[in-house]
Amino acid sequence: MKQNSIQIDYIEYESLDAMPADDVALIEKAIEIAQKSYSPYSKFPVGAAVRLDNGEMYAGNNQENVAYPSGTCAERTVLNYVNANFPDHNIEAIAITSLKSNSSIPITPCGFCRQVIMEMEYSQQQKIRIILHKIGGPTYVFQSAPALLPLAFIGEMLQ
Ligand code: THU
Repeated sequence: MKQNSIQIDYIEYESLDAMPADDVALIEKAIEIAQKSYSPYSKFPVGAAVRLDNGEMYAGNNQENVAYPSGTCAERTVLNYVNANFPDHNIEAIAITSLKSNSSIPITPCGFCRQVIMEMEYSQQQKIRIILHKIGGPTYVFQSAPALLPLAFIGEMLQ
């Protein structure tokens, strides 16, 4: 018997002042698109913005549905869009934010979205930086998908 543990490293920025300008721009895009969220049921608007390897940014928000499971998170709205339209470009980073929060920490992606980020990172063979921002609060930066989904189910099917 052996006791193991998994450590997760991330950077915390207290304010946007210390962050790289391109990451700040991505966060601003996520905040902007969150305002167009369709979230009449949860009233919890979320925005996500992706930067590709050519520097271009794309954004998406959560799109809910009266049949609740038919709704989609902001992350998957934008990730599936860029993967559908720009399959030859790698994703460098994704920034995620919510307009409302009772928490003192940034919003964190759901398990579905972590799995999708994981697959896109694995298939493009380039790490995706995950930037979680709380408006008026801290920003957490994770350098790759496995940090948010340790021991992910991925390799067996894709090898
Ligand atoms: N949501 C996102 O869009 N992204 C997340 O990271 C967490 C949750 C959405 C799903 C639903 O529309 C609303 O937030 C409340 O859960």
